[in-house]
Amino acid sequence: TVGRVAFTNRLQAPPLAPSRLDPTGRRVFDLGIRAGRREFVPGRPSPTWGVNGDYLGPTLRARRGERVLVNVANGVDETTTLHWHGMHLPPEMDGGPYQPIAPGATWSPTWTIDQPAASLWYHPHPHGRTARHLYRGLAGMFLIDDDTVPGLPHRYGIDDVPLIVQDRRLDGGKLNPDEPMSGTTGFLGDRLLVNGVLDPYLVVTTTRIRLRLLNGSNARVYNFSFADGRSFAQIASDGGLLSAPHVTHHVQLAPGERAEIVVTLTPGERIVLRSASPARGAGLVQGDGGDDRFDVLELRAAPNLTSSPELPDRLATIPPLPAHTAVRTRTFELAEHHINGRKMDLRRIDAQVGKDTTEIWEVRSGDGTLHTFHVHDVQFQVLAVDDRRPPPELSGWKDTVLLPPGSRMRLIMRFADYADPHRPYMFHCHMLYHEDEGMMGQFLVLAPGQ
Ligand code: C2O
Ligand code: CU
Repeated sequence: TVGRVAFTNRLQAPPLAPSRLDPTGRRVFDLGIRAGRREFVPGRPSPTWGVNGDYLGPTLRARRGERVLVNVANGVDETTTLHWHGMHLPPEMDGGPYQPIAPGATWSPTWTIDQPAASLWYHPHPHGRTARHLYRGLAGMFLIDDDTVPGLPHRYGIDDVPLIVQDRRLDGGKLNPDEPMSGTTGFLGDRLLVNGVLDPYLVVTTTRIRLRLLNGSNARVYNFSFADGRSFAQIASDGGLLSAPHVTHHVQLAPGERAEIVVTLTPGERIVLRSASPARGAGLVQGDGGDDRFDVLELRAAPNLTSSPELPDRLATIPPLPAHTAVRTRTFELAEHHINGRKMDLRRIDAQVGKDTTEIWEVRSGDGTLHTFHVHDVQFQVLAVDDRRPPPELSGWKDTVLLPPGSRMRLIMRFADYADPHRPYMFHCHMLYHEDEGMMGQFLVLAPGQ
């Protein structure tokens, strides 16, 4: 057991990014990537990177149907990028390695938010350097709002709180930016930061609280549960609300994955959110993070709680993508820093996909270790896990999945709206060391005749 902590630091939701409407009605955000210092450990400042601050960045928030413009100014001394993880958008707005932002430059992508309410996030995506840039502190949430579902907690920072969970090593209080490039799995730290705070507690003032959990770590898989074994409701996965609340005792998240949960508290109680060994992922071995347990966060209920409404029985309509609508099936094997036997290079094109078509992608981990699979531009549905129907937590929209050693998943996705014969989207393992070592491929979406 590592990471048993004293919960001495009060946690807040990340600040909301201010925005304004320009004359054309676009919602405009200004983000500045900068170097800073943060005392994770009091009296021991560490050099860090952050967005509009010294570590991590503000939460962007926009409504479905809105057009957004984000000015991203790079104030650090390395070229980086900012990628909108989980967002459906044109490839030139995606923020991958084709949209580098040189030191001193500003990149201003604009697109229309066109997907259901969800907890998305942003992080750098420079070719071969994602692990280092994310580890230094560049990441934040991007929340999409849609029609309100009555009964769901939705007051940001009060009963609706994002939790960005990251493991770090803080030798002498300092982050070492070159650390993430080692090991089989990649970097595994021995301390947890939640929203950049060590040993955190969160004051709760309502009987129900919605936690938007993001695994923003480089390699570690979390299996969250409460120390007293209580159940809670998972209400959303990566790409939006589930069709109905899923009552469970644990939720597992690989790097890049999100889950929203709603927990019920009684006045004055304190409960600890924990992470135990991953349940699906038996191939993780000791020393590779497989046996690690962490106390993540303490929830401290106030002596008097405002009562929250009952959770609704139904949350969202998720139109199924039936297998028979797929025009083809592709297979991708992840093994030894390769996908289908090749490493990433910027000229590689693995697939040319027809715009407005649906495909099945069958993915598997072929090398006896744990991987994940993330696809840009789309939210997909899981058709099968090792030929079985997916469990409830994989029944909604997903953009990243955990692939335990030897396992196989059938994913179905529709490539709508955006086509570009010159600019590819990426798919890759989201264990960042693997990603940077080359476990990544590219696809083009083409309109008829392109
Ligand atoms: Cu979260 Cu291609 O990345
Ligand atoms: Cu991997």
